[in-house]
Amino acid sequence: MSKKLFIETLGCAMNSRDTEHMIAELTEKEGYEVVKDFRDADLILINTCSVREKPVSKLFSELGIFNKKKKPSAKIGVCGCTASHLGRDIIKRAPYVNFVLGARNVSKITEVLHKDRAVEIDINYDESEFAFKDFRTSTLKAFINISIGCDKSCTYCIVPKTRGDEVSIPDRLIYNEAQRAVDAGAKEIFLLGQNVNNYGRRFSGEHEKINFAELLKRLSKIEGLQRIRFTSPHPFYMDDEFIEEFATNPKICKAMHMPLQSGSTKVLKDMKRGYSKEWFLNRVEKLRKVCPEVTISTDIIVAFPGESDEDFEDTLDVLKKVRFDQIFSFKYSPRPHTEAQHFTNVVDPEVASARLTHLQSFHTQILDEKNATQLDKVYSVYFEELLPNHFVSGRSDNNFVIKVKGSDELLGEFRDVKITSIGRTILTGEIVA
Ligand code: 5AD
Ligand code: SF4
Repeated sequence: MSKKLFIETLGCAMNSRDTEHMIAELTEKEGYEVVKDFRDADLILINTCSVREKPVSKLFSELGIFNKKKKPSAKIGVCGCTASHLGRDIIKRAPYVNFVLGARNVSKITEVLHKDRAVEIDINYDESEFAFKDFRTSTLKAFINISIGCDKSCTYCIVPKTRGDEVSIPDRLIYNEAQRAVDAGAKEIFLLGQNVNNYGRRFSGEHEKINFAELLKRLSKIEGLQRIRFTSPHPFYMDDEFIEEFATNPKICKAMHMPLQSGSTKVLKDMKRGYSKEWFLNRVEKLRKVCPEVTISTDIIVAFPGESDEDFEDTLDVLKKVRFDQIFSFKYSPRPHTEAQHFTNVVDPEVASARLTHLQSFHTQILDEKNATQLDKVYSVYFEELLPNHFVSGRSDNNFVIKVKGSDELLGEFRDVKITSIGRTILTGEIVA
């Protein structure tokens, strides 16, 4: 009988891909099989995130539940970003945890499994050329890492301390992985990195000089591959070459994530983002000029230390000018190992909450106005997911989630869909071709 693995994944797409890598290693090399209930498992993994919330107390209460209700022989491993920054303290506080595996040490999963109380959290460990076994949750869309780590030093962000310096994965490995995914049925690939458009600045071995625009060109030559998405690009690295490749390469989906963080040049400076409000607006203008159909999403942090009412107005002003198609917005949360945790000019929590509410309702208003124009538009949808009540959903090229009545025959297919009704997170339509 095979051993059973339960794995819980928090955080970003990179963490989800790390989970897939761990599943691949454990199923291929150790004979595990994934189960949905931790009480059936022989191995329980939590792949943690530490980007915003204070996840620590939640992690320990969850670990306590796993420990109490698991099979007596089951092992527990803590992986991911919180593992990277808490390290051995996790085992000190929860001695029943069998191992701790950092976000940059995923390839060591089968090693730590067999060592008692192993802690592998070296953020200088280089697994950029590690050949993980292939495993994907979906065969229709393949997530592919193009780099590990992050070289920026945004003052609010813990990631450089959990995932280490940035190293690009050799383009040949990325190409081969994409080709294998396409051979297995994927028509779409999703390239992942903390800072994708900085691709090619550093490889761990000898490598020809190549940037992100060139990588996109090469990947788009794969026959049968129809769509390329990526996240996250950094506004600082959005040069004309990148924007023009984005606009003119027909396989690149016309949805751009542009994490603004703040619309105030002063706050951006305190965050060490490397660009100004004007640069951001200039890049949006350039992008829309060469690619009018593009949709733009963003991340925004409100109430960063020192953010005044005027600074916040600047953020609203960018919202007004850009009219983003989607925003992910957060209240600033001080994180360990970051510069900003020592900043003393903190914003009053009530002001922070009020700003977040204001920002979100302002954006909802913009969205409602934009959405009203969607009725009767026709989009080419790539269907990926079965929903309850005989609906199937997929995404348009520019990333709208669209559902139609249908069955699993639509999965992995493209259809032209006319929008018949509008919701804030999902559009409904009918197939016209
Ligand atoms: N506080 C609030 N939001 C944060 N993010 C990253 N670090 C913090 C923090 N300390 C947000 C940023 C980033 C997204 C993934 O999470 O907006 O783009
Ligand atoms: Fe969370 Fe950031 Fe780590 Fe992703 S990289 S899991 S968002 S802390």
